[in-house]
Amino acid sequence: MQTVTVNLGERSYPIELGEGILSRVGEIMKARGINGRVGIVSNPPVAELYGDRVRESLEAAGYDTATVLIPEGEAHKNTASLGLIYDALVEHRFDRSATLIALGGGVIGDVTGFAAATFLRGIGYVQLPTTLLAQVDASVGGKTAVNHEHGKNLIGAFHQPRLVVIDLDTLRTLPRREYAAGMAEVIKYGIIEDAAFFVFLEQEMDALLRIDANAVEHAVATSCRIKARVVEQDERETDRRAILNFGHTIGHALEAFTGYERFLHGEAVAVGMIQAAALSAGQGLCSAAELRRIEALVRRADLPWRIPDDIALEDLIAGMALDKKSHAGKIKFVLCEGIGGTRFQWFSPEEIVRELASGL
Ligand code: NAD
Ligand code: GLY
Repeated sequence: MQTVTVNLGERSYPIELGEGILSRVGEIMKARGINGRVGIVSNPPVAELYGDRVRESLEAAGYDTATVLIPEGEAHKNTASLGLIYDALVEHRFDRSATLIALGGGVIGDVTGFAAATFLRGIGYVQLPTTLLAQVDASVGGKTAVNHEHGKNLIGAFHQPRLVVIDLDTLRTLPRREYAAGMAEVIKYGIIEDAAFFVFLEQEMDALLRIDANAVEHAVATSCRIKARVVEQDERETDRRAILNFGHTIGHALEAFTGYERFLHGEAVAVGMIQAAALSAGQGLCSAAELRRIEALVRRADLPWRIPDDIALEDLIAGMALDKKSHAGKIKFVLCEGIGGTRFQWFSPEEIVRELASGL
């Protein structure tokens, strides 16, 4: 087991990471000084796999627990699911000393975190992420949200968890496609912050794809460490934290354009990262060889890597100027400076189409 700390003054918390540690979550929470009743939030398939293990560990440590299940899937990351959680908390007379536990992927983590941010004006919560994407990204950094029918994550809050417990064994039951999608975010950390980590991923991608324990532990711990350092520098994304959006601008556009049905988030980010690297190469910020290495690694991770032929770049980019992060018709793009660095640059949608079309 190893610990990565997110240093945010009084909101600091540890990320405990290892194999099989879900069955120790009760003692880990006790050691962290978490008392009071515990509400476990999950969805039916994840609860079926891991619910008993978590509940038994909590009860063995003396916690009084209640479980709330919300339906599976991004379509249920909404206020109706929040309502289910609030109803259960009220029914079980939870008070401000209570703690919520998010047992599942990023959807469960985001909804549970927002419920914790708002119930009784804020109670504590613990993340038990069970997807690779949630382990390396969604469970760390305190962004919580639910979707509105007119947009993703439109209703949310910054609310840091009190503890994150990552059981790497849970990745063994994750569908391959979900695992690969999480790997896109792992690759992202290498590109934006850590050239040596990128080389590690190049060398160990086969081991990572067969879920080799040592390789996975190093990849997840390093990813969490990089995300923690960025969040520490800019918790509320006034500036630097936006580097974590590398590949996400075109990725989001691809997800939205295809109705959130054709691509998983990480898959769309994989395509977006290659486009962002191409844009960076066009600006002279990264070499053709570095662009090729990024593309090769994404492809080796079993991820999609280019915009499908049936989608015109113009159509894809058109919605971007309307994006909530655009300003005066321009979009703040995260570019990579070689492998291991970033820079922000503003582009209009037309400039993006022109730059990418000329380089492809
Ligand atoms: P997800 O939560 O939908 O989980 C993917 C699927 O895997 C689900 O069907 C789930 O039931 C299943 N599953 C989860 N763990 C499993 C396991 N161990 N074994 C078998 N099946 C398992 O998807 P995700 O990719 O984890 O998260 C995506 C969400 O995370 C999006 O809503 C996104 O907005 C959010 N997100 C948030 C942040 C943040 O900073 N808060 C960052 C990135 C993404
Ligand atoms: N997923 C980007 C962030 O947490 O800021």
